[in-house]
Amino acid sequence: MIKKVLFVCLGNICRSPTAHAVMRAKANLAQINIEIDSAGTSGSHRAEAPDSRSVREGEKLGYDFSKIYSRPVVEADFAYYDLILAMDLDNFAVLQKRCPEVHKHKIQLFMQYHPKFATNKEVPDPYYGGARGFSLVLDLIETGCEGLCQFLKQSS
Ligand code: 4NP
Repeated sequence: MIKKVLFVCLGNICRSPTAHAVMRAKANLAQINIEIDSAGTSGSHRAEAPDSRSVREGEKLGYDFSKIYSRPVVEADFAYYDLILAMDLDNFAVLQKRCPEVHKHKIQLFMQYHPKFATNKEVPDPYYGGARGFSLVLDLIETGCEGLCQFLKQSS
């Protein structure tokens, strides 16, 4: 059974903290009892709060980003978490490379839980783009988290 989910992007300041905040809210509403965290494949924003552009976008819809701070993925995460969701194909490849063979099955693309996965495998990196990128990220993440909630409900 899936009890612990880790969302992973590059910096852990835009996409994965958004997924962390959105899933925390949606799991709570759906009364799904899981532990949620997020991390980055890079540690270059370590201890930073989420990007203000992500927070602005999420807060418009009432999501709470408190107590989320950037941290890098560590070796122990692969054993600890039951499901490790990469936001894009680069993150997925880095995780696959670093993960011990026995835990590799835990790594999936986040978009697998989105109904448009067949044509869209990634939540695109919004960091160097404009505000539209951040609203697209939130949109993809909300729908993906709804799919993830449905999956968790069915498999519990
Ligand atoms: P994230 O976005 O991976 O969604 O947190 C990024 C944050 C920082 C950088 C790139 C992407 N950066 O190059 O610093």
